[in-house]
Amino acid sequence: MTINMQVWTDYQQKHKDRFLAELFDLLRIPSVSADSGHAGDIRACAEAVRQRLLQAGADLVEVCPTGGHPVVYAEKSVGADRPTVLVYGHYDVQPPDPLELWHTGPFEPVIRDGNIYARGASDDKGQIYMHIKAFETMAQTGTLPCNVRFMIEGEEEVGSEHLEKFLKENKGRLKSDIVLISDTSMISLESPSLEMGLRGLAYMEVEVTGPSRDLHSGVFGGAVANPATMLCHLISTLHDSNNRITIPGFYEEVAELDPASRKKLNEAPFDLETYKKDLGVKELWGEKGYTTLERTGIRPTLEINGIWGGYTGEGSKTVLPSKATAKISMRLVPGQNSKKIAALFTEHLKKITPPSVSIRVRELHGGEPVVTPMDSIGYRAAEKAIETAFGKPPIPTRGGGSIPIVALFEQVLGIKTVLMGFGLDSDNLHSPNEKFAVANYFKGIETIPYFHQYFAELSKG
Ligand code: BES
Ligand code: MN
Ligand code: MN
Repeated sequence: MTINMQVWTDYQQKHKDRFLAELFDLLRIPSVSADSGHAGDIRACAEAVRQRLLQAGADLVEVCPTGGHPVVYAEKSVGADRPTVLVYGHYDVQPPDPLELWHTGPFEPVIRDGNIYARGASDDKGQIYMHIKAFETMAQTGTLPCNVRFMIEGEEEVGSEHLEKFLKENKGRLKSDIVLISDTSMISLESPSLEMGLRGLAYMEVEVTGPSRDLHSGVFGGAVANPATMLCHLISTLHDSNNRITIPGFYEEVAELDPASRKKLNEAPFDLETYKKDLGVKELWGEKGYTTLERTGIRPTLEINGIWGGYTGEGSKTVLPSKATAKISMRLVPGQNSKKIAALFTEHLKKITPPSVSIRVRELHGGEPVVTPMDSIGYRAAEKAIETAFGKPPIPTRGGGSIPIVALFEQVLGIKTVLMGFGLDSDNLHSPNEKFAVANYFKGIETIPYFHQYFAELSKG
């Protein structure tokens, strides 16, 4: 190990500037998966990732078409006696809006105060690029300890709809001993951590329809149910006074965490005042009886992601809209199933909708929650890698976000995942001014080869 470490440090030191410049090039491509207007950029980004993997030292790289955006697949083998690490990530990004709130262009990366600012800097281009540069470090110095497969997809931010089919059709070549993902956060460089779980997701769209057309709000208002009012009313009943979700059966299968694990979870460094200050809120909100770390880590939630109807342009227009719509997502925890929850949600909303309006409920996408094991070789390799790079072992945490494919890696391929993320919760993911600290980027590039090394060593038994 010590021999490789010096080789890796020297290589990374020498190519530091290029590692940053190349990431900037990738960040300049507006690969927004949600917007069909960016389909060309998605393709260009997949092609750029393909070329980078080839240059880094992969033996084979393919841009694989799917029913949606393509997956970039790459491989390098060093021996049938070595374990195989499958690196997953996504090259697509969230839409950058609202644009006016960015201090510099979302696709014009810059460094300010030690941070790289750009859409995708942390989620997930910066983090996939750490893996590509770590792989280059090992491949170009002839020190790759494990066989490596890359699967970098282009529709994670819209629900990875076509990925299950891709997994099923590529079972053979995706067969690996561990999936390694950097698409989550750590507490800080001073308190490195590993996320031990992800929440699931049921993402719904609700459309309430009233009159057959938009009406004059003076002529008809007061006599016809306003679908926007009705939608707000329906949604407002979905939480009770303890901020618990009122959908019958919603909590039925939630696995409660045992008191010892709950205690441990709450020992992670967390400062409520800093948290509130950073978010610009005077008081926090959430399910009664749970701490903030529990509310985001181990409890299910229901959020409106968007709500609209009627006139939303400049100035005023007196109108009683014919329709109102909301996008509502529910984060799920172990025990819950996205299909079941989507069905409970649909049934409940239909039941409480008054006859003065009609309702249509659709499930847009779903994903299952996961908990990653702590007693595995993968976890131990990640733990040792972090300890080597940071000088202290990671704190296990529970992340609030979702990566739907992780549950499928286990279901379809039978492979466990290690979530070794280097982002921070303050990176402004999905928000204006997304950022990724330069220090975290390089720390990630340093840590990843250690993971491969320890994983190979521990696999030997
Ligand atoms: N990288 C995030 C997920 C994440 C972020 C996990 C931070 C843990 C900590 C991922 O790109 C993401 O945003 N996923 C979506 C789900 C998807 C189905 C749209 C999410 O969590 O909303
Ligand atoms: Mn991500
Ligand atoms: Mn994301």
